[in-house]
Amino acid sequence: MNKHDNRIPPAKGKLGVLLPGMGAVSSTFIAGVELVKKGLGKPVGSVTQLQTIRLGKRYENRSPLIKDFVPLASIDSLVFGGWDLFPDDMWTAALKAGVLDEHRLAPVRKELEAVKPMKAVFDPAYLKNLKATHAKTGKSKWDLAQQVIADIESFKKKNGCDRVVMLWCGSTEILPEHAACHEDVEALERGLKDSDPAIPPSMIYAYAAIKSGIAYGNGAPNLSADVPALVELAEQTGSPICGKDFKTGQTLMKTTIAPMLKARMLGLTGWYSTNILGNRDGEVLDDPGSFKTKEKSKMSVLDTILEPGRYPDLYGKFHHKVRIDYYPPRGDAKEGWDNIDIRGWMDMPMQIKINFLCRDSILAAPIAMDLVLFLDLAKRAGLKGIQEWLSFFFKSPQCREDLLPEHDLFIQQMKLKNTLRILMGEEVLDHSGLDYYDAEKGTPVTAAAPKPAAKKKSLAKSAR
Ligand SMILES: NC(=O)c1ccc[n+]([C@@H]2O[C@H](COP(=O)([O-])OP(=O)(O)OC[C@H]3O[C@@H](n4cnc5c(N)ncnc54)[C@H](O)[C@@H]3O)[C@@H](O)[C@H]2O)c1
Repeated sequence: MNKHDNRIPPAKGKLGVLLPGMGAVSSTFIAGVELVKKGLGKPVGSVTQLQTIRLGKRYENRSPLIKDFVPLASIDSLVFGGWDLFPDDMWTAALKAGVLDEHRLAPVRKELEAVKPMKAVFDPAYLKNLKATHAKTGKSKWDLAQQVIADIESFKKKNGCDRVVMLWCGSTEILPEHAACHEDVEALERGLKDSDPAIPPSMIYAYAAIKSGIAYGNGAPNLSADVPALVELAEQTGSPICGKDFKTGQTLMKTTIAPMLKARMLGLTGWYSTNILGNRDGEVLDDPGSFKTKEKSKMSVLDTILEPGRYPDLYGKFHHKVRIDYYPPRGDAKEGWDNIDIRGWMDMPMQIKINFLCRDSILAAPIAMDLVLFLDLAKRAGLKGIQEWLSFFFKSPQCREDLLPEHDLFIQQMKLKNTLRILMGEEVLDHSGLDYYDAEKGTPVTAAAPKPAAKKKSLAKSAR
């Protein structure tokens, strides 16, 4: 048995999951959870459910599953709700999204039909390619925010939830200009009352969640909660927040390959990335405004990983291009191509080609679930404001304004696991391994360590 830190209250009762935006990602997430509950599917891709975490020294052989180590809510306790611009229930939305086929979805049809979106907060100025048929009306943005707050409360009551988490799975909005109303809570509340045009719908949902003191995550590149006003409010109300933009297909690849190039000091001349996808997300991104938001999110990773300022010879002048083309026949089965021009010893040119035939929402759904479970854990653990340890899941990790975000997938993973160790009162691992070989200090020779005669061999083996 692992010791659970008494300071983190256990995950009792039901956990409400509220999703603004109930399209491909949301319906795939919900369908998957309902299938897992019935033992009809496996949560492949979920770090919380499948990954282990090493504790203590390597010879202690303590590597529990993360879900057995930290007191996470169980998948069985999840209850779903949300908002959408269209009234489709999750069965209809899942069929339209076409990620999992009807045959696969059939055993959970009843559960999916029962999840019907509430009316959305919509502003056509922020989303050009969709026309809402299921939107709230209100006298002001403040009024709309109060309606969302009331929705959260009534969902919680109606479903008997102990706790609620909100995760934005809605479309990519056009980015607003930076405005005074983003700067502090007072200005934002005034802006809501004045229906300031610089407040997009995703910021209204984020405000409602954070004002209600619940955790808020942002799966899109929208500005949403990434403004000083909402960070300040999150500190005040004790809401953990994180974002932005689920790190799935191409950026997942990019943040895996780029750290390798830098680790080996290989130069980069150019990185050309292109995607074709045909789902509703692709349709939204066909609008130049929404594409610009996504492009910014996708472009930012290379500079922060490669640090051209520090390595001008290797990374000072690389050409980076990102394209997304809406191509309906492909549906959710996105295809990404990367051509990477690199340089080695004596500046000799080489190339890497990646052709990733992925399924966007199949990669995003486990991220959504892990984020919900970790955000709920963060709330119970008393963590508030920006949760940088959840950067692992995002393309543009939200972090303190004066810091650079961490994009390297492997540093992000270490950050995540060490945070869990800290939360549970376990030793932080620096992975240096030095103390295994410090005979003078004698640190490794404990009752749990291998016997001296066998030690040399087994340590050499584990060091590999
Ligand atoms: N699928 C992925 O792998 C992936 C990866 C990274 C990020 N994302 C982002 O996640 C989001 C969801 O992706 P998706 O594939 O499910 O898209 P989708 O188009 O299938 O679903 C988005 C839904 O959000 C709804 N919506 C838009 N504005 C809304 C609002 N103001 N209130 C309530 N609902 C609203 C739309 O009606 C739509 O049903 C997008 O922003 C996408 O860019 C997706």
